[in-house]
Amino acid sequence: MSLFRQISRVNRLQLLSGCMRSISSSSEPLLDLSVDGQGIAVLTLQRPPVNSLNLELLQQISQSFDDLAAQNCKGMVVTSSLPTVFSAGLDIKELYKPDIKRLNLFWSNFHNVALKFFTSEFPTATAINGHTPAGAYALAMLSEYRVTAKGNFTIGFNDTALGIVPSTWIIELMRHTMNSRRAELAATASTMFSPSDALKEGLVDDIADDKAEAIEKCKQFIKKFNNIPKWTHSETLRKTRSIPLETLKKFLAENPNQMTESVMKKDTQDSLGVYIEMMNQRKRQKTT
Ligand SMILES: CC(C)(COP(=O)(O)OP(=O)(O)OC[C@H]1O[C@@H](n2cnc3c(N)ncnc32)[C@H](O)[C@@H]1OP(=O)(O)O)[C@@H](O)C(=O)NCCC(=O)NCCS
Repeated sequence: MSLFRQISRVNRLQLLSGCMRSISSSSEPLLDLSVDGQGIAVLTLQRPPVNSLNLELLQQISQSFDDLAAQNCKGMVVTSSLPTVFSAGLDIKELYKPDIKRLNLFWSNFHNVALKFFTSEFPTATAINGHTPAGAYALAMLSEYRVTAKGNFTIGFNDTALGIVPSTWIIELMRHTMNSRRAELAATASTMFSPSDALKEGLVDDIADDKAEAIEKCKQFIKKFNNIPKWTHSETLRKTRSIPLETLKKFLAENPNQMTESVMKKDTQDSLGVYIEMMNQRKRQKTT
């Protein structure tokens, strides 16, 4: 094993112990962080059954940014350990009939993760390897580059189907990612796209035969910045993404708990209840 690989392995253990130290309410790491011999990290979401984004997973993603920045890593690829799901998006259990203090903390961590992607010192990419609805697609959009594997799954932003009005900064991020008019149509109708349609519509930048190839393509993207000073890259990215970023900052400055208020509206709680019942019914049908 080369010295660099050995160092990488040590770093990985340090990174994981760093993550675990920062999370008081979860003893299990909900993600795996490994750094390859070239200094590119792969952050693998591993919260079965569907990698839904709960408070603790968001805290661990946020901590990973800090750990990787401290390690001067070259870039980060986000992917999933699950065979058919990248992530089911926000954990509905955090949103439905919640404890308000925890819900506020949940949203502040979600926004914190968004800000870390927007202002990351290193390039980020997402290797989509399964279902990627709502908040999961937001995570993918927040990274700079998206590659999807081929497969029988869908990608997109389906918040309106759950009775949730997406935040303006997310709409701006969608308009930044794909054609503005198509973003409006997709966001309002909660349209979900197959991998090939996601490529056609600009939701993803590239398509791969499988997860391994998707990760490799993400790494190739990150390597494009090998000869570009990190700060010029991150500063340029901030400028190109200034509309969604400034919209997010304004949104948080106006009222950091806006999303809690929005989710607690009776109509939204009712819709979430119906959606959860639909999921339960689907499960019952599967098991009979
Ligand atoms: C992601 C998805 C396509 C995967 O389908 P699947 O592999 O057939 O998995 P299932 O639907 O059976 O879900 C597996 C479990 O995860 C749970 N789950 C799914 N999505 C979840 C979510 N977003 N939050 C919390 N739990 C979720 C299901 O309730 C089920 O739990 P159970 O085993 O205790 O009954 C599907 O779960 C789905 O569409 N989820 C909702 C996605 C969504 O609308 N997210 C927006 C959230 S704001």
